[in-house]
Amino acid sequence: MIGRLNHVAIAVRNLDAAAALYRDTLGATLSPPLPQPDHGVTVVFIELPNTKIELLEPLGADSPIAKFLERNPDGGVHHICYEVDDILAARDRLKEKGARVLGSGEPRIGAHGKPVLFLHPKDFNGALVELEQA
Ligand code: CO
Repeated sequence: MIGRLNHVAIAVRNLDAAAALYRDTLGATLSPPLPQPDHGVTVVFIELPNTKIELLEPLGADSPIAKFLERNPDGGVHHICYEVDDILAARDRLKEKGARVLGSGEPRIGAHGKPVLFLHPKDFNGALVELEQA
Protein backbone atom coordinates (compact mmCIF):
# COMPACT_ATOMS: atom_id res chain seq x y z
CA MET A 1 0.00 0.00 0.00
CA ILE A 2 2.67 2.58 0.91
CA GLY A 3 4.77 3.92 -1.93
CA ARG A 4 7.67 6.35 -2.10
CA LEU A 5 9.23 8.01 0.91
CA ASN A 6 8.01 11.56 0.35
CA HIS A 7 9.96 13.26 3.13
CA VAL A 8 11.57 13.04 6.53
CA ALA A 9 10.69 15.95 8.82
CA ILE A 10 13.16 17.21 11.42
CA ALA A 11 11.99 19.55 14.18
CA VAL A 12 14.46 22.31 15.02
CA ARG A 13 14.55 25.19 17.47
CA ASN A 14 16.44 27.55 15.16
CA LEU A 15 15.54 27.29 11.51
CA ASP A 16 18.27 29.68 10.33
CA ALA A 17 20.97 27.67 12.08
CA ALA A 18 19.58 24.36 10.81
CA ALA A 19 19.28 25.68 7.25
CA ALA A 20 22.86 26.98 7.38
CA LEU A 21 24.06 23.56 8.55
CA TYR A 22 22.38 21.78 5.64
CA ARG A 23 23.47 24.43 3.13
CA ASP A 24 27.05 25.10 4.23
CA THR A 25 28.14 21.87 5.91
CA LEU A 26 26.13 19.26 4.01
CA GLY A 27 26.04 21.19 0.73
CA ALA A 28 22.29 20.84 0.17
CA THR A 29 20.00 23.04 -1.92
CA LEU A 30 17.31 24.68 0.20
CA SER A 31 14.06 26.56 -0.29
CA PRO A 32 13.60 29.88 1.51
CA PRO A 33 11.74 29.60 4.86
CA LEU A 34 8.03 29.14 4.24
CA PRO A 35 5.63 30.08 7.08
CA GLN A 36 2.65 27.72 7.26
CA PRO A 37 0.37 29.24 9.89
CA ASP A 38 -2.32 26.58 9.32
CA HIS A 39 0.16 23.93 10.46
CA GLY A 40 1.91 25.95 13.17
CA VAL A 41 5.33 25.62 11.57
CA THR A 42 7.79 27.41 9.35
CA VAL A 43 9.38 24.99 6.88
CA VAL A 44 12.59 24.86 4.88
CA PHE A 45 12.43 22.25 2.12
CA ILE A 46 15.60 20.40 1.18
CA GLU A 47 15.44 18.63 -2.16
CA LEU A 48 17.56 15.49 -2.38
CA PRO A 49 17.85 13.33 -5.49
CA ASN A 50 15.60 10.62 -4.05
CA THR A 51 13.46 12.36 -1.41
CA LYS A 52 13.01 15.54 0.62
CA ILE A 53 13.96 16.67 4.10
CA GLU A 54 11.76 19.23 5.81
CA LEU A 55 13.17 21.35 8.62
CA LEU A 56 10.30 22.44 10.90
CA GLU A 57 10.46 25.35 13.33
CA PRO A 58 7.51 26.15 15.63
CA LEU A 59 5.29 29.02 14.50
CA GLY A 60 2.74 30.59 16.82
CA ALA A 61 1.67 29.83 20.38
CA ASP A 62 0.27 26.30 19.98
CA SER A 63 2.58 24.75 17.45
CA PRO A 64 2.14 20.97 17.15
CA ILE A 65 5.93 20.54 17.42
CA ALA A 66 6.40 22.65 20.59
CA LYS A 67 6.00 19.69 22.97
CA PHE A 68 8.32 17.55 20.87
CA LEU A 69 11.03 20.19 21.15
CA GLU A 70 10.50 20.42 24.92
CA ARG A 71 11.25 16.70 25.11
CA ASN A 72 14.02 16.91 22.48
CA PRO A 73 15.79 20.22 23.05
CA ASP A 74 18.43 19.47 20.39
CA GLY A 75 15.71 18.81 17.81
CA GLY A 76 15.10 15.42 16.22
CA VAL A 77 13.36 13.38 13.57
CA HIS A 78 9.68 14.30 13.99
CA HIS A 79 7.92 12.19 11.34
CA ILE A 80 8.34 10.29 8.13
CA CYS A 81 5.95 10.64 5.21
CA TYR A 82 4.98 7.87 2.82
CA GLU A 83 2.97 8.36 -0.35
CA VAL A 84 -0.24 6.43 -0.95
CA ASP A 85 -2.33 6.33 -4.11
CA ASP A 86 -5.68 6.64 -2.37
CA ILE A 87 -5.63 8.22 1.07
CA LEU A 88 -9.22 7.31 2.00
CA ALA A 89 -8.72 3.67 1.05
CA ALA A 90 -5.45 3.69 3.02
CA ARG A 91 -7.19 5.19 6.07
CA ASP A 92 -9.99 2.65 5.98
CA ARG A 93 -7.56 -0.24 5.67
CA LEU A 94 -5.44 1.06 8.56
CA LYS A 95 -8.45 1.50 10.83
CA GLU A 96 -9.62 -2.00 9.95
CA LYS A 97 -6.17 -3.27 11.00
CA GLY A 98 -6.47 -1.45 14.33
CA ALA A 99 -4.13 1.50 13.68
CA ARG A 100 -5.10 4.85 15.15
CA VAL A 101 -5.48 7.82 12.83
CA LEU A 102 -4.81 11.13 14.61
CA GLY A 103 -7.28 14.01 14.76
CA SER A 104 -10.72 13.75 13.21
CA GLY A 105 -9.61 10.98 10.86
CA GLU A 106 -10.41 13.17 7.87
CA PRO A 107 -7.47 14.09 5.62
CA ARG A 108 -6.20 17.68 5.85
CA ILE A 109 -4.34 19.61 3.20
CA GLY A 110 -0.64 19.28 4.05
CA ALA A 111 2.49 21.27 3.38
CA HIS A 112 2.50 20.34 -0.32
CA GLY A 113 -1.16 21.12 -1.01
CA LYS A 114 -2.16 17.45 -0.96
CA PRO A 115 -4.37 15.52 1.50
CA VAL A 116 -2.46 14.03 4.46
CA LEU A 117 -3.17 11.96 7.57
CA PHE A 118 -1.05 11.17 10.60
CA LEU A 119 -0.89 7.78 12.34
CA HIS A 120 -0.31 7.25 16.05
CA PRO A 121 3.40 6.68 16.77
CA LYS A 122 2.60 4.01 19.36
CA ASP A 123 1.14 1.88 16.57
CA PHE A 124 4.24 2.31 14.35
CA ASN A 125 7.31 1.47 16.43
CA GLY A 126 7.48 4.88 18.04
CA ALA A 127 7.62 6.79 14.74
CA LEU A 128 4.99 9.35 13.80
CA VAL A 129 3.88 8.43 10.27
CA GLU A 130 2.34 10.84 7.78
CA LEU A 131 0.54 9.56 4.70
CA GLU A 132 0.26 11.85 1.69
CA GLN A 133 -1.89 11.31 -1.35
CA ALA A 134 0.55 10.85 -4.24
CO1 CO B 1 5.32 16.10 6.79
